[in-house]
Amino acid sequence: MIDNFFGFDSVDISEDGNALIIIDQTELPSKEIFLSLKNEEEVAEAITSLRVRGAPAIGIAASFGICVIVKNLRPKDYRAYLYEFDRVYDILLKTRPTAVNLRNCLESLRSTLNRSIEDGYTSTEEIQEIILDRAKQIKREDIENNIKMAELGLSLLKPGSTILTYCNAGHLAVSRFGSALSPIYLAKSRGVTIKVFACETRPLMQGARLTAYELLKAGVDTTLICDNMVSSVMSGGLIDAVITGCDRIAANGDVANKIGTSMVAILASHYKIPHYIIGPSTTIDPECKSGEDIVIEERSSDEVTHRWFKKQIAPEGVKVFNPAFDITPAKLVSAIITEKGIFRYPYNF
Ligand code: MRU
Repeated sequence: MIDNFFGFDSVDISEDGNALIIIDQTELPSKEIFLSLKNEEEVAEAITSLRVRGAPAIGIAASFGICVIVKNLRPKDYRAYLYEFDRVYDILLKTRPTAVNLRNCLESLRSTLNRSIEDGYTSTEEIQEIILDRAKQIKREDIENNIKMAELGLSLLKPGSTILTYCNAGHLAVSRFGSALSPIYLAKSRGVTIKVFACETRPLMQGARLTAYELLKAGVDTTLICDNMVSSVMSGGLIDAVITGCDRIAANGDVANKIGTSMVAILASHYKIPHYIIGPSTTIDPECKSGEDIVIEERSSDEVTHRWFKKQIAPEGVKVFNPAFDITPAKLVSAIITEKGIFRYPYNF
């Protein structure tokens, strides 16, 4: 049993099924604000501006999101339902390109919709119920997967070890418990000591704002470091293993994750520290043969020059390169853990 140290799920649907409920991650750690989102502008904005973020959380938010948006448009018959579903599908699919869970979840709902129509359901109420059931099942699967990954991940860690993590692949990045952080929560629930070094993860500070927030909330011994301190703590013998999440895994095991993950992987390999990637099998994209096929999202320059600082820190007009993700070559990953097992190089998922 993993304890839910948070008392809320990061992504949910309201009881009446009319709103997507998320905790606004842009307000954390200072304010815990829950948003109730009902239309396409609100849901798309919440995903693009990272109010909800993390590969599995984005997929679940899009799944509940499309259900509530189409329902609230009150389509008059199943043809109108299909039309609105496809329109909203295209809008949500474009919100974030790298995490494949978004596409997988939307495609799964689309297949469920097709099947329900082939099976002869034509009332919008019935179709709505079938689609919503599938979205709820996607969330349940996320929680079940996180529990399985927690067990598998913890089996690789010695009690008393210190883990280094990057970005946020915890409770906030999924609906409940986390992927990379789930073994830590399982350890905590069992009274096993695991300490964590969290990298702050420039430019959006998901490590400092979100990972540190949630680990402290769960009572985990947590130390925050700047990203350029990784080599120093590793060479000092402070780190036993690295665990990070993933946004998309290519068929050959190359991993797209938050920009800087490949730097951590190179350092871990140099210092002979295992680097484990934990993510659900829905993160594996067989359509991408290698990391070269993965589209990397580029984000606005103000994330580097202004955001999180009282005053702009770089001169106006400076050129900024701000890719949100990078590719860690499969060879540098010690193991990829999904709910289906522990996989090692050469990867054959
Ligand atoms: O840009 P973000 O914050 O959505 O990026 C998230 C990450 O890179 C996470 O590490 C990844 O999605 C794993 S989430 C379980």
